[in-house]
Amino acid sequence: MAEVVLDTVTKTFGGRPALDGVSLRIPNGSFVVLLGPTGAGKTTTLRMVSGLDRPDSGDIYFAGRPVRDLTPAQRNVAMVFQQYSLYPHLTVRQNLEFPLKSPLLKTPRAVIDSKVNATAEMLQISHKLDSKATTLSGGEMQRVSIGRALVRTPQIYLMDEPLSSLDAKLRADLRIELKNIQAHSGATLLYVTHDQIEAMTMATHIGVLHEGRLVQFGSPRDVYERPVSLYAATRLGQPRINILAADTFPGAPPGAVSIGLRSEHLLHGDGQEAVVRRVEHLGDQTRLHLTFRTNDLITVTDAHTRLKSGDIVKIQPDKPLYFGADGMRLQ
Ligand SMILES: Nc1ncnc2c1ncn2[C@@H]1O[C@H](COP(=O)(O)OP(=O)(O)O)[C@@H](O)[C@H]1O
Ligand SMILES: [Mg+2]
Repeated sequence: MAEVVLDTVTKTFGGRPALDGVSLRIPNGSFVVLLGPTGAGKTTTLRMVSGLDRPDSGDIYFAGRPVRDLTPAQRNVAMVFQQYSLYPHLTVRQNLEFPLKSPLLKTPRAVIDSKVNATAEMLQISHKLDSKATTLSGGEMQRVSIGRALVRTPQIYLMDEPLSSLDAKLRADLRIELKNIQAHSGATLLYVTHDQIEAMTMATHIGVLHEGRLVQFGSPRDVYERPVSLYAATRLGQPRINILAADTFPGAPPGAVSIGLRSEHLLHGDGQEAVVRRVEHLGDQTRLHLTFRTNDLITVTDAHTRLKSGDIVKIQPDKPLYFGADGMRLQ
């Protein structure tokens, strides 16, 4: 595994920059998640690192060495694509073995077998090992694709929204498994997603991409608690952060145009009156949709609340974030 560095990488398609001067250091043994909506440049970043595509300018380094002239095979990366890519005529076992059977590797049979069996078990596909790839469901095929990456020990694992096609239960299981694998094996991962739960739960570092630019890079906690901008603030947080005019509550600093209040930063029981518009029971918590003057707000409360639509609650902001006219957070 290696530290991977991107230095001012730019890539333009048809005159529009898909990546605009992205510099990023992926420490050896880290789990870096790139977070951004469709079109932000996530897949393009992975393709540059893998060698499937080349930057227009800028350089990429593996363990300090430029990889500009190396093919994808020479870079020794393991990539999982958004869309599974299996050999349809082979069985699951043969698909999983394939990366280990390269003549260059000379992997002993017993090692191949134990890696394949362990990977299949982890991905809950052991019972399908002797089935043809074409007989699998979409979710099973995607698990085999992930498995084909995990049987290898590359310089870096590159994963492009690998869990997005799986059902919620399996997605939650695999999030934990991927995180465990990385934490125990010291693997280096660059993982892209637009799913903030994946980013928060798995990442050691989160990079926030906005229209081809890396606008923030830090720990999940850092990005959540100290977002650089309104854009970064709205990437993380479930339910989404409330954004209101800065003068909605007293105490805004000079230059503040908007105030950001995460649901846990709206205290109940004291303060100003708001009307409960809708109550959503989610099992472990309850979401309250409130109307405060002309603003819609969302906040969370305990699971067993007796509040109902039409009730009045009192709210008060706690630890608000303030943003200026340019959308950047004020210190
Ligand atoms: N091969 C390509 N040809 C033309 N435009 C592309 C190509 N690949 C990506 N783009 C454009 O680059 C931008 C970033 O795309 P992409 O990296 O796929 O974003 P993401 O993976 O974050 O959704 C988008 O505007 C997309 O349309
Ligand atoms: Mg993509």
